[in-house]
Amino acid sequence: TPELIHSPKEMRAKVLAAQKSGLTVGFVPTMGALHEGHLSLVGRAAAECDVAVVSIFVNPTQFGPSEDFAKYPRTLPDDMKLLSRYNPVWVFAPEAADMYPPGMSTVVQPPSVALPLEGASRPTHFAGVATVVLKLLNLVPADIAYFGQKDYQQACVIRQMVIDLDVATRIIVCPIVRDEDGLAMSSRNRYLSPEERTAALSISRALRVATERLEAGDRDAASIAAGMRAEMNAAGIREIDYAILADPQTLETLQTATDTVVILIAARVGQTRLIDNCVVSLT
Ligand code: PAJ
Repeated sequence: TPELIHSPKEMRAKVLAAQKSGLTVGFVPTMGALHEGHLSLVGRAAAECDVAVVSIFVNPTQFGPSEDFAKYPRTLPDDMKLLSRYNPVWVFAPEAADMYPPGMSTVVQPPSVALPLEGASRPTHFAGVATVVLKLLNLVPADIAYFGQKDYQQACVIRQMVIDLDVATRIIVCPIVRDEDGLAMSSRNRYLSPEERTAALSISRALRVATERLEAGDRDAASIAAGMRAEMNAAGIREIDYAILADPQTLETLQTATDTVVILIAARVGQTRLIDNCVVSLT
């Protein structure tokens, strides 16, 4: 079974000792409630590095006041079981009081790619993410850290932060893992009723329809975006935060598609907010 470490000091000492003895360390930061999407990152870390470290920490500072922090799934025993297929794996599960002791008030101002989309819908989210990820990278000073494309804008924010603040860890972004029906795996999918899950499938379907239009030569991004909204509306989704084609680097919304675009969707299905995306490269 994986080794469980709670103490931040102990975690950092273990990683530094491993590296001193010549081992490479791969790091996968998570909030737990692990699924095959998370495990694909752990598999990659285990394959490419001598030791895989997985952090499990439901970070309070990245949740807005009306978001799901209190009810976010916490399933540490199940997570430990799933991680036992990798060896060696160290699980870092710090206490909130150790990550945010009284008097801790420093916050990382995220780079400007954090401003649109998720940043517009969740104004304090990326400051919380950037701060905790920088802290985690200081406590687990890994050779490589692995993130998922599922959170496309988060990956952009972290890549830029690591450049801007001279973090030595290399960042690798891994593909989205989907269920067989196309739904992008997410810890939040367990909130969905069967009816909601059917409605949620229109999100990945909208991405596929948009991709097909781009592949067929359509460059009218505004019309493609309208088509995605129609697809989701027809499935009963009423609250769409965004459904756009954007520049894959800056995340600026495009009216006319270029050769490489990222298609991004955020929508609420019942009480559950879901995100998904797809990069289309036509060159
Ligand atoms: P969490 O949502 O638990 O996700 C942890 C990592 O798993 C992220 O890099 C995310 O992009 C990746 N991931 C989630 N679902 C995936 C899927 N279906 N396919 C591929 N990768 C997937 O993202 C966070 O936690 C937090 O914001 C964190 C970075 C840990 C900071 O608190």
